[in-house]
Amino acid sequence: MAYKTLTKAIMIAGLALGVSAAASAADKKLMMGASTSMLANNCQGCHGTNGASVGPASPTIAGLSKDYFIEVMEGFADGEVKSTIMGRIAKGYNKKEIEQLADHYAGLPFVKAIQTFDPSQVKKGAKLHDKYCEKCHAEGGNSAEDDAGVLAGQWTQWVKWSMDDFQAGHREAPKKMNKKVKKMLSKEGSAGIDALLNYYASQQK
Ligand code: HEC
Ligand code: HEC
Repeated sequence: MAYKTLTKAIMIAGLALGVSAAASAADKKLMMGASTSMLANNCQGCHGTNGASVGPASPTIAGLSKDYFIEVMEGFADGEVKSTIMGRIAKGYNKKEIEQLADHYAGLPFVKAIQTFDPSQVKKGAKLHDKYCEKCHAEGGNSAEDDAGVLAGQWTQWVKWSMDDFQAGHREAPKKMNKKVKKMLSKEGSAGIDALLNYYASQQK
């Protein structure tokens, strides 16, 4: 299904580009006026209706802060944030459209994923979060206001993947975050990351 949706997304992105390239002055109004719901239609196949992704393959995008949303979309487009799919998709939108999408999704509620986790890891994860992450991922990773994404109730696959990419240097984390993650890893090893992931996944309400 992912492949099919991907093909569809690329077709849609291609169509949009074709349209703008061919647009004459008379079409300008149409070109500039892509409504937000039209733009967001292209995201639903993977990110769910209203940005609440129903499966682990795509993160939930509703309820992220506007600033973070724009930053990560621009990161996808210029390759600074590693991606399988979003790089190609993000390139299909101009600055104004990305801002439109960011406004739209920032205004929708983040819906937490219902997913499996290891209950025996949750307490440890919560402790590690408080010590190393809470400062910038406030309210147990629930707050969007830090402009750092949302961790609580996000699909684990994406959170884990992001952590892997930060550590491998495929995505740049803030220096202070790198420092905290390193410190945490030197004390806890990768079991610390596991505990954190289980803590975030345990937050389903
Ligand atoms: C074909 C499936 C697909 C489509 C269509 C799609 N996305 Fe994504 N999106 C993903 C996947 C998968 C990821 C994880 C990064 C990656 O591998 O590309 C992602 C990641 C994201 C993220 C990062 C979330 C975070 O917490 O950091 C944002 C923001 C996003 N997408 C926005 C959008 C928007 C806006 C659209 C529509 C214009 C869209 N996506 C269309 C699959 C898709
Ligand atoms: C000094 C502040 C700071 C600290 C401490 C910090 N982070 Fe972050 N984190 C950020 C910022 C800012 C971003 C957004 C980076 C970007 O725009 O790419 C981020 C992004 C992330 C992301 C990616 C979110 C997404 O949706 O893609 C994950 C996962 C993450 N942090 C996990 C952690 C964990 C786990 C800890 C504790 C071990 C931690 N962070 C500590 C500031 C921090």
